[in-house]
Amino acid sequence: MYRTHTCGELRAEHIGQKVTLAGWVQRSRDLGGMTFVDLRDRYGVTQLAFNMDEDGTLCESARKLGREFVIQVSGEVIERTSKNSKMPTGEVEIRVNELTTLNGSKTPPFTIENETDGGDELRMQYRYLDIRRKVIQEKLRLRNKVALETRKYLDSINFMDVETPYLIKSTPEGARDFVVPSRMNQGEFYALPQSPQTFKQLLMVSGIDRYYQIVKCFRDEDLRADRQPEFTQIDCEMAFVEQEDILNTFEGLIKHLFKTCRGIEFEGNFPRMSYAEAMERYGSDKPDIRFGMEFKNLTALAQNKGFAIFDEAEVVLGIVAEDAAIYTRKQLDALTDWVKRPQIGAKGLVYLKCNEDGTFKSSVDKFYSEENLKEWAEFAGAKPGDLILVLCGDLEKTQKQLNELRLHMGNELGLRNPNEFKPLWVLDFPLLEWDEESERYHAMHHPFTSPKKEDIGLINSEPGNVRANAYDLAMNGVELGGGSIRIHDRGLQSRMFDLLGFSKEEAEAQFGFLMNAFEYGAPPHGGIAFGLDRLVATMGGADSIRDFIAFPKNNSGRDVMIDAPSRLDGSQLKELGIGVD
Ligand code: AMO
Repeated sequence: MYRTHTCGELRAEHIGQKVTLAGWVQRSRDLGGMTFVDLRDRYGVTQLAFNMDEDGTLCESARKLGREFVIQVSGEVIERTSKNSKMPTGEVEIRVNELTTLNGSKTPPFTIENETDGGDELRMQYRYLDIRRKVIQEKLRLRNKVALETRKYLDSINFMDVETPYLIKSTPEGARDFVVPSRMNQGEFYALPQSPQTFKQLLMVSGIDRYYQIVKCFRDEDLRADRQPEFTQIDCEMAFVEQEDILNTFEGLIKHLFKTCRGIEFEGNFPRMSYAEAMERYGSDKPDIRFGMEFKNLTALAQNKGFAIFDEAEVVLGIVAEDAAIYTRKQLDALTDWVKRPQIGAKGLVYLKCNEDGTFKSSVDKFYSEENLKEWAEFAGAKPGDLILVLCGDLEKTQKQLNELRLHMGNELGLRNPNEFKPLWVLDFPLLEWDEESERYHAMHHPFTSPKKEDIGLINSEPGNVRANAYDLAMNGVELGGGSIRIHDRGLQSRMFDLLGFSKEEAEAQFGFLMNAFEYGAPPHGGIAFGLDRLVATMGGADSIRDFIAFPKNNSGRDVMIDAPSRLDGSQLKELGIGVD
């Protein structure tokens, strides 16, 4: 037997017992007469004691143990003279009488401690060592618990886990596909699913009226802190439901997960907001409502006073940063540089300091009287001591930029508490969005989303104003999940493909299988998918999903540990019928 107990298990009640432990050497301290070793495994750390007077040879061997050596020890559990209340095992230690080195270890490239000296790339390269760190193991443990509780909850209300294929057909909508060449069908390619969307809809036609799957999805898009090329969804679909049924069912799931995995209970129903309202108040379809700083439309007040930049803009929007009038010139310059970075793209930043003495100081003093500026402050609800930050330009761009600035100020002013959780259902998304590049409409969610009944009449005349039966769950500024009530009628689905610019032939070639299925008794249905990585990272109070994934990719989509992607050798390519320069 390699071990009788784990390294996190022994307490005062075990004193006097003979035990055997196995694990990794976290650290060893040589105090002359005594050598102490901290032994670590997944469950904790236990102190081992070697006494020079009792067994000199054994103590010498202990002194030679390096960091991360794998060892097995036997001995007696004894009371520690100097107890460590910070360690669960801190009342005891093992008086070792047998030591076996099971394996040596090179010196690890970074310290295996909660605070490590390893940079991101190095930690990714040696991810198996990184995962030895308790902080990372806790993240994976949270992920495991969330997945387990998801299964329990959905199973308890009749959801059935059904697997869907990974080798599917490439489709033009949404993000770019990852493709896989077919050896048996040369010149043809599979695509990896961006989500199991069409399959789950087919399962509804099959009568599996409550489906779920915790499933990998693949999207070839530019990466960010909350985006990975392969990520995991809690993917769900239900038949015979309306939007309200879906919102209630999955609000129940999220509440269950927070309660069981974080011990947090939400009071009452999750708040709801229309997409239009979210954009107007926060300039975002996933607003962080942990703090206020809502948008104030200053257009009418700011225009026609001789300041050409504001006069020429479609909108002038501001936010009030409370108690930030103390920002120095240097800090304001830094904010201006921040909004001018290409990632944000603003041309400049106007500020208005509402001084404690009732006076105003602004970067546009030249154009606006004290009276004008007072009007701004009153309209925006700013009080003495506050700072108003203003951006202007096209509506959409300005909303986007000011949203970024609002989140940035929220961070700077410490308003985004990672241990506070504020869910928000965002409803009534537009059905379509105009794409400047291709000069046509794209489905805002996906082409299977149904339009609101009362807006169907606008489909031909004002397609941009048609709202969809689509919803997202946002939390703390993150889109945790999204879904919709689907079209289940062949006629309406074909009309939707027309609207999206598909010819009849293209629609048939891409989605004929789904439209055919709709002719064999498709029930009304709808669903939602949550990003598991994002959900777990948000629950864990982190912005980046990377540490919550055992083996993530870096920002260029590479797995730097196994070195993928990589080249194929000539014979493999030949077999696939592929030529590469
Ligand atoms: P959607 O595309 O909104 O909907 O995706 C659902 C959720 O998946 C997460 N997500 C991601 N997480 C990490 N990295 C990514 N690259 C990534 N992309 C998306 C987000 C998002 O809210 N089939 C539909 C769902 C439906 O209609 O039922 C779908 O995939 O948290």
